[in-house]
Amino acid sequence: MNSYVNVPVAPAAKDARRTERIKLYGPDAFEGMRRAGALTAACLDGVADLVRPGLPLSEINTFVLDFASAHDAKPATLGYKGYEYACCTSVNHVVCHGFPNEKRLRDGDIVNVDVTLICDGWYGDSSRMYTAGKPKRAAERLIQIAHQAMMRGIEVVRPGARLGDIGHAIESYAQSQRCSVVKDFCGHGIGQVFHDSPNILNFGKANEGLELRKGMIFTVEPMINLGRGDVKVLADDWTAVTRDKSLSAQFEHSIGVTATGFEIFTSSTKGLQTPGVQIISSTE
Ligand code: MF3
Ligand code: CO
Ligand code: CO
Repeated sequence: MNSYVNVPVAPAAKDARRTERIKLYGPDAFEGMRRAGALTAACLDGVADLVRPGLPLSEINTFVLDFASAHDAKPATLGYKGYEYACCTSVNHVVCHGFPNEKRLRDGDIVNVDVTLICDGWYGDSSRMYTAGKPKRAAERLIQIAHQAMMRGIEVVRPGARLGDIGHAIESYAQSQRCSVVKDFCGHGIGQVFHDSPNILNFGKANEGLELRKGMIFTVEPMINLGRGDVKVLADDWTAVTRDKSLSAQFEHSIGVTATGFEIFTSSTKGLQTPGVQIISSTE
């Protein structure tokens, strides 16, 4: 059974660890997450100025490294379980965990950039989609659907709602748009550790699962495919791709449960959540 533990005063970052008990954080933690989230969002805002056809993905990695060090932060992925980069860059049919290597973006590519910055011990984890040059209409549509799926998942969050409500909101919306959710990856508790309990599944039944309480902090990060939801991981042990090679898109926010709803810690202050992508009306 799940149980909760109050974290009224955050422990020293070095003493933080993943636990099975769900941590309920107080105002100091929310302040720490606000700062870490804002920094991660500012970093993702900066990535928007970079992305163009011909750009080697490694330059996104370099930008994130430089941005982090200029702001006294550390990219959480660097050295995480052997991962060697400051961010993930997942292009077209890559679902997640793509390497920012020497490969260059091409006209029409869509790319998810996933950044987690550690700021004073707090982890701000967020990802967005970017487009290089002119994407196809289907790609633009998928990006809008992935963003909307994340937002629908976030918008049900309030004390008393259940984890199944989040998954149900995401999955039912994706299906209504004839897209699939990837079931092999999920969101996670976050705070002073990168991946904490609980898992935040992107599918589920309304009114089922763990009850949300004020003070919980976690990510919502659905991956949505134009085709089927099946994925495979390449021989590099990281890069996840769609089995049917269909396009995949993802957005991620780190959020906290408040007395009346939710607070998003990783919003763009520049309104760049879906940069360069036109809103496509639902009647099309
Ligand atoms: N940032 C990813 C997440 O949203 C995790 C990436 S782990 C890595 O949870 F090692 F692949 F970078
Ligand atoms: Co995450
Ligand atoms: Co992430």
